[in-house]
Amino acid sequence: MLKNKFVVLGVTGSIAAYKSADLVRLLKKRGARVQVIMTKSACKFVKPLTFQVLSQNPVITDMFREPYRWEVEHVALADSADIILVAPATANIIAKIAAGIADDILTATILATRAKVVIAPAMNVHMYENPITQKNIEYLKGLGIKVLEPEEGPLACGYTGRGRFPAAEDIINILEELVGKAQDLKGRTFLITAGPTREPIDPIRYISNHSSGKMGYSLAHKAIIRGARVILVSGPTNITPPAGLYKFVPVETAIQMEKAVLENFNQADVVIKAAAVADYRPKKFNPEKIKKKDDEMIVELVKNPDILQELGKKKQNQVLVGFAAETDKPEKNALEKLKRKNLDFIVLNDVTQEGAGFGSDTNIVKIIYKDGRSEALPRMLKEDVADDILDRVLPFLTENG
Ligand code: CTP
Repeated sequence: MLKNKFVVLGVTGSIAAYKSADLVRLLKKRGARVQVIMTKSACKFVKPLTFQVLSQNPVITDMFREPYRWEVEHVALADSADIILVAPATANIIAKIAAGIADDILTATILATRAKVVIAPAMNVHMYENPITQKNIEYLKGLGIKVLEPEEGPLACGYTGRGRFPAAEDIINILEELVGKAQDLKGRTFLITAGPTREPIDPIRYISNHSSGKMGYSLAHKAIIRGARVILVSGPTNITPPAGLYKFVPVETAIQMEKAVLENFNQADVVIKAAAVADYRPKKFNPEKIKKKDDEMIVELVKNPDILQELGKKKQNQVLVGFAAETDKPEKNALEKLKRKNLDFIVLNDVTQEGAGFGSDTNIVKIIYKDGRSEALPRMLKEDVADDILDRVLPFLTENG
C-alpha cells in the first residue's frame, strides 16, 4: 500500500531518533519515496548522512539553505506529501505544531500541508504525562492528526513508564492502514445529521436535549478526509463545521431537519442520522413571551415526524445508519428501532456509562446489525468512533455497487 507513496519523515531531537533509521529502511522496502527532514536537535543525536544513505535522498535540515529547485521548499513538500510522519516527536515539536508555530522547515511544512499527519511521541514519561503535553495531544487529535500511543517500558532517562518509541513495524502498519483508507469513500455522497433540534414554545423558550453534535461533526470530518462528498444538516451546536463540506444546512426544529433531509436524500449514497431529534414539539407556538401566572403551566406537545423512519420507507439502495441513545434494555430497544426504521445498522449508545454519549469527547458504542449480531467497541475518542462507523459502512456500499 505504501508503494510509490511520498512520505515526509520529520525526525526530532529525542534519544529515539536513531530508531527512525529503521523506519526509513522499512519504508523504502515497502516501495515508498522518503524525504527526511531533521530538526537542529535531531542532528545532535544522529548524523543526517545516516538518513541520506537509507532514504537515498539528501536530508533537509535548513529552511534557508541554497535552493536546488525553483520551488518554495516547504510548500512543495507540503503539497506533494501523501503522509507526513513525525517520528520520534518530542514534547517541544508537539507543542509547536499545536500552537501553529512554523519557525523551521518541519513545522512550516506541517502547517502548509493538507496531507495526513501522523505523530509518534517519544519522551520522558513525566513530559508525556504532563497535562500541557496531553492537552496539546488531545487538541491535535481533534484536528484529525493521528497521534500514536507511546509504549510503556524502561526509558533512556532512567525512568520506567509510557514514553517509548513504538516498534517500527507497528508504525508502518498504521501508515498502511491510513493510506489504504485515504480515499476509500471517494465518489460517494454522505448525508449526515448532527446536534439536537430546538422546538420553540415562545420567542424566548424552547424544548431541546443535551446533544452536543460532536459525534455527527466527527463523522462528517472523517468522511471528508476519506474523500466523500458530505452534506451536513445540523441542529444548533457550538462547533465550527469541518472544512471541505459539500453543503452545510443549519436547522433549528425537527420539521426543518425533515425538510432538509428529504431534499437531499435522493443524491445520498449513505445517510447517518446522528442527530438527537426532539420526539415532540409544542402544539402551539406563542408569538409573544408567555408571562408568569398560575402555579402550574401546561405545554401541550404533539409528535414530531420520525425522519429516519420516513427514510426507511423511501430507501432504495441507500445505506441507512441510525443512532440509539438508550438507558434501559439497550440492545433489545436498539434492535427494535433498527427493524422499525429499516436500517442497515444502528449505533447503540448506552448513555448511562461514563465516557459515553452526550457532551463527552469520547464514546462507547455497540454496532447492531439486522440479524441481531452486535460488535462492542471500546471507549474511544468520537473521531475514532467515527472512523470505525465509516469502516462498517464500506461493505454495504460495495454490496450496493
Ligand atoms: N430519529 C429521527 N427522527 C425522530 C426521532 C429520531 O430521525 N423524530 C432518528 C435519530 O436521529 C436516531 C434514531 O432515529 O438516528 C433513533 O433515535 P432515538 O431518539 O434513540 O429513537 P426514537 O425513535 O425517538 O425512540 P425513543 O425516543 O422512544 O427511544
